[in-house]
Amino acid sequence: MTPTLKAWSILRYGTPEQLSPVSRSMPDPGPNEILIRIHASAVTRADGMMRAGTPRFARAFLGFRRPRNDLSGTGLSGEVIATGTNATRFSVGDQVFGEAGLNFGANASHICLCENGVLMPKPDFLSHEEAAVMCDGPLTSFNFLHKIAELRGGEKVLILGASGSLGSAAVQIATAMGAEVSGTCSARNAGLVASLGARQVIDYNQEDFARRGERFDVIYDTLGISSFRQSKSALARSGRYVCPVLSFDLLRAMLRSSIVGNRKARFAATGMLKPDIQRFMLGQLIELIDDSKFAPVMDRTYPFDQLIEAHLYMESGHKRGNVVVV
Ligand SMILES: NC(=O)c1ccc[n+]([C@@H]2O[C@H](COP(=O)([O-])OP(=O)(O)OC[C@H]3O[C@@H](n4cnc5c(N)ncnc54)[C@H](OP(=O)(O)O)[C@@H]3O)[C@@H](O)[C@H]2O)c1
Repeated sequence: MTPTLKAWSILRYGTPEQLSPVSRSMPDPGPNEILIRIHASAVTRADGMMRAGTPRFARAFLGFRRPRNDLSGTGLSGEVIATGTNATRFSVGDQVFGEAGLNFGANASHICLCENGVLMPKPDFLSHEEAAVMCDGPLTSFNFLHKIAELRGGEKVLILGASGSLGSAAVQIATAMGAEVSGTCSARNAGLVASLGARQVIDYNQEDFARRGERFDVIYDTLGISSFRQSKSALARSGRYVCPVLSFDLLRAMLRSSIVGNRKARFAATGMLKPDIQRFMLGQLIELIDDSKFAPVMDRTYPFDQLIEAHLYMESGHKRGNVVVV
């Protein structure tokens, strides 16, 4: 019997119900590729946006009428089961994790990826479920706090949305950087956020952070729920408002603040960084995990055949940390 690959196809842009299980012939790794048997894959907000084709300008990269690469999923962890003739970084039997990027197809039984992409050896102290989500919240928040916000030890940082994938990673990374961390979340997540290292937890249902009269060196708006304008009154003189959710409002604020004023608004697309830079940051995160200073926060794990349910939950806007399918 010919071996087949099981995956999820996005039939057309839309709701989670547009996801459909498919079988394809098993790919052979090209000269620089490795074939991975996937044990766990992430279900992220970015995956939801790619499935929905939003924001619409993203279709210039994804495909105008329907996704050019129709398979779902980006973050994954698994085992190398075949290597191309020129592959040297990995061998059969290695445990690996990383990111399929714009190739997509991580919500699958197998995938072929270039070994020089965003792929890392998986340490034993990281489960496949934890490893599969490393390129979402952990990598993004590492990039935002270190490179985009240029957060320094001793500075005050406020994480908006501290219980999500990006937020729960950010609280831990900023704490490990020696910053004084505050986070916003609902009452039900206050204990979690405090346990991750936040000295101060602000209930977003009870209080507006911008009206507290407190100033922060960095405001990291992980969900794009505020804006540079709304945050200004809570930013220190040389404060940075950084946000991973792109909007015209944010673009305008970035442009204006680059010309006038000391306070700055900044955005970055972490997945667009060169693979070697992303691998370096993942290496730093692995060191933090080894030092017990960081652990991905895991919410629900769904069986592979329940990807639609996993997308519905992920899009509820109320997950705590990360969601995976296995
Ligand atoms: N630019 C980049 O490089 C990049 C990379 C990856 C992701 N992203 C983007 O980053 C965004 C965040 O993703 P995520 O996975 O971290 O989100 P998420 O996990 O889905 O966020 C859910 C969490 O946010 C909390 N929340 C909801 N409303 C809130 C509010 N008004 N104030 C404070 N907390 C609130 C929820 O808590 P309750 O249930 O208690 O409300 C829940 O725990 C997405 O838009 C994604 O596309 C950007």
